Amino acid sequence: MSERFSPKVVPLVDLRAGPLPIPVAAAPTPGLLRDTLGRNLRDLRISVTDRCNFRCGYCMPKEIFDKDYHYLPHASLLSFEEIVRIARQFVNHGVQKIRLTGGEPLLRKNIEILIEKLAALRTLDGTPLDLTLTTNGALLARKAQALKDAGLRRVTVSLDGLNDAVFRSMNDVDFPVADVLNGIHKAREVGLGPIKINMVVKRGVNDQEIVPMARHFKGSDMVLRFIEYMDVGATNGWRMDDVIPSAAVIQRLQTELPLLSLEPSQPGETAQRWGYANAAGTHDTAAGEIGVISSVTQAFCSDCNRARLSTEGQLYLCLFASHGYDLRSIVRSDASDQDLATAIGSIWSGRSDRYSELRSALIAETGAAVRRVEMSYIGG
Ligand code: GTP
Ligand code: 5AD
Ligand code: SF4
Ligand code: SF4
Repeated sequence: MSERFSPKVVPLVDLRAGPLPIPVAAAPTPGLLRDTLGRNLRDLRISVTDRCNFRCGYCMPKEIFDKDYHYLPHASLLSFEEIVRIARQFVNHGVQKIRLTGGEPLLRKNIEILIEKLAALRTLDGTPLDLTLTTNGALLARKAQALKDAGLRRVTVSLDGLNDAVFRSMNDVDFPVADVLNGIHKAREVGLGPIKINMVVKRGVNDQEIVPMARHFKGSDMVLRFIEYMDVGATNGWRMDDVIPSAAVIQRLQTELPLLSLEPSQPGETAQRWGYANAAGTHDTAAGEIGVISSVTQAFCSDCNRARLSTEGQLYLCLFASHGYDLRSIVRSDASDQDLATAIGSIWSGRSDRYSELRSALIAETGAAVRRVEMSYIGG
């Protein structure tokens, strides 16, 4: 048993069975892909580091991710050249959006160099990518201008409350909310919009922040999204009782801030959109909109178009997968770009993942024993 799997160290993912074998059936390459449920591949999320300067209890609880935790060694991380080589083949297969995640992506050294390289890629239609990044905002004030200059289009900032004490306890490293708000302000100033704000709602922890957050961002041209606390990974001690269903979030908001349901803006969207209503009961576009992301109570797997590339180059077909496909070994072999494209095509063509839809049955069947990859490793 390697050190990584000693009782003291919770594995990022159980690798003892090794990565999944890459299917051999050749798919037509390049070109649009469909999985076994007819879902296209449109969105690639790339985790650039498994480290973070926050310790949100729902993602990297302090008791597990402590000073003895074994993060990935530098040599196992994909280099920027390797990331871009892989990303190019995804784009040749129809990917239109690339999101950089982590961990905290702004902790990856020289991230703007990677952004510059990714910004040069073009979709199959010849247009630039929707290139974005999810950050906790701690380093945003300092880095916003460099990110913009490198070609990043927009950012999504995680923010779990406005009350400083609540925010400090959510991030669990005593980080002040004012610094994140300053980062958001800076990102807006340099034009990294439209900015989205993601708030994970945990019952009894930050649900009192729902209404103040909505009030704060109403009319700001930023879209606040409330996320149901999910059972990702194997370390956050998730319990259904801690989840506030999106329907309850909407109900709470409706009593003070009338809302009306909006049509999706794109197929495969994670969030359901709600607009602020005016006195006439129609959408007040100046007041804007919010979103709810209901992975627990209303799964959205049926049109899930997202693939995830881990920090060390494993391709995951679902946020809740326990194993990935080892693309790093392909890019570190003498395989050609064509071989890489064929592998990606074959993997996506065989995809049938829909964890959120199957969650209830799976939990009943496997209980807490199911071992899943950590979100800090494959990215949100
Ligand atoms: P936009 O293009 O800005 O709308 O981004 P997005 O909503 O596609 O991505 P984002 O990373 O902002 O997603 C918000 C949150 O939704 C994540 O942090 C996760 O909590 C959750 N989420 C994103 N993708 C998935 C997914 O494929 N499955 C599940 N179950 N949850 C997801
Ligand atoms: N449940 C829901 N969302 C989560 N995230 C991380 N862990 C969880 C979880 N357990 C998402 C949040 C955060 C982003 C980085 O990852 O949206 O903002
Ligand atoms: Fe870090 Fe984001 Fe995870 Fe919080 S949710 S620990 S900020 S990666
Ligand atoms: Fe996609 Fe898996 Fe999330 Fe369903 S649970 S939406 S298949 S990533």
